[in-house]
Amino acid sequence: MSGVTAHSNVAIEARALVKEFEKGRHTLWQRVRREPDRRTTFRAVDGIDLAVETGEIFGLLGPNGAGKTTTMRMISTLLEPTAGTIRVLGTDVAKEPRRVRAQLGAMLSGERSLYWKLTGRENLEYFAALYHVPPKDTKDRVERSLAAVTLSDRADDYVERYSTGMRQRLALARALLPDPPLILLDEPTVGLDPQASRDLRDRVRDLRAQGRTVLLTTHYMEEADQLCDRVAIIDHGKIVALDSPNALKRTIRAEEIVRLDIGIAGDGDGAAIVDRLSRAGTVARSERHNGTLSLTVHCASARELVPAAFDAAHAAGATVQHVEVVPVTLEDVFLSLTGRGLRE
Ligand SMILES: Nc1ncnc2c1ncn2[C@@H]1O[C@H](COP(=O)(O)OP(=O)(O)O)[C@@H](O)[C@H]1O
Ligand SMILES: [Mg+2]
Repeated sequence: MSGVTAHSNVAIEARALVKEFEKGRHTLWQRVRREPDRRTTFRAVDGIDLAVETGEIFGLLGPNGAGKTTTMRMISTLLEPTAGTIRVLGTDVAKEPRRVRAQLGAMLSGERSLYWKLTGRENLEYFAALYHVPPKDTKDRVERSLAAVTLSDRADDYVERYSTGMRQRLALARALLPDPPLILLDEPTVGLDPQASRDLRDRVRDLRAQGRTVLLTTHYMEEADQLCDRVAIIDHGKIVALDSPNALKRTIRAEEIVRLDIGIAGDGDGAAIVDRLSRAGTVARSERHNGTLSLTVHCASARELVPAAFDAAHAAGATVQHVEVVPVTLEDVFLSLTGRGLRE
């Protein structure tokens, strides 16, 4: 059996993937002065195993610096892994990088440049030539890529007149030019307003509807939740959880999430309140800003926790200013796995 058949339902498979970078520098002067070499290596990606299935939207969700972009760059053949293997549609990335590149369209950060003095269509014609799209197919591919991102009616406007959202869609159209079965999107909606983000997410769903596989990264938990069939939560270069958004949320469904703002008088620090609530539930987050203690508590029953919170506040001479029972989000999953928020 060939590798392709054996992996026919797996679009991307990464095994024990590692990327080490050097930290710090050893400059010429440091060498001349015979100062010790203080460079150390650190693992940006620290042993990742992944299997992205054909036809799904798979998300890598994690905070800045988690190793998402590094993983994408390795999968797209731009960066060589320190260790581990990657197969894309059955092809080993290290052995046949060109074959892999021919099958994927990527929109990675740092390579979103478009020519602002050209029209949207001219940009795509230029990149089609660059990507060796056969000349006889170019017109058709350009039109279909424009249609896929709903830019057909603005194709003859100069890109400098485009909104940020339209430019981002054009960058996506560019990734679609080779008509690839697999699309890699690194933080596709970063910097977009809510409307433009929603629109781009719809276009990504369209790609799935066309039977393509999408691997994307995001640090927006709502985006991972709404868009992805499955999500790998990544932190410090490691996958800490991997499942569908609902299954991930179910891991803490036994609990409810209560958010509280408590006004603390004078120089109290609210420690007694946190202490009391720690016995009624798990205080997942506790932050103090100018006399307000903001708490996120995971608990078995909000009906029991909320009165306890009022009691504890009262006993400490503090006032509950805001209380809210909220649905479990992927942010809570991340918090419970790492003890930190996604935005910290
Ligand atoms: N070329 C590089 N050289 C050294 N360190 C790097 C390089 N690229 C990324 N890093 C570091 O690796 C870690 C992971 O980065 P990255 O993959 O960009 O994270 P993310 O995309 O999740 O924000 C960060 O600490 C980052 O500073
Ligand atoms: Mg990144």
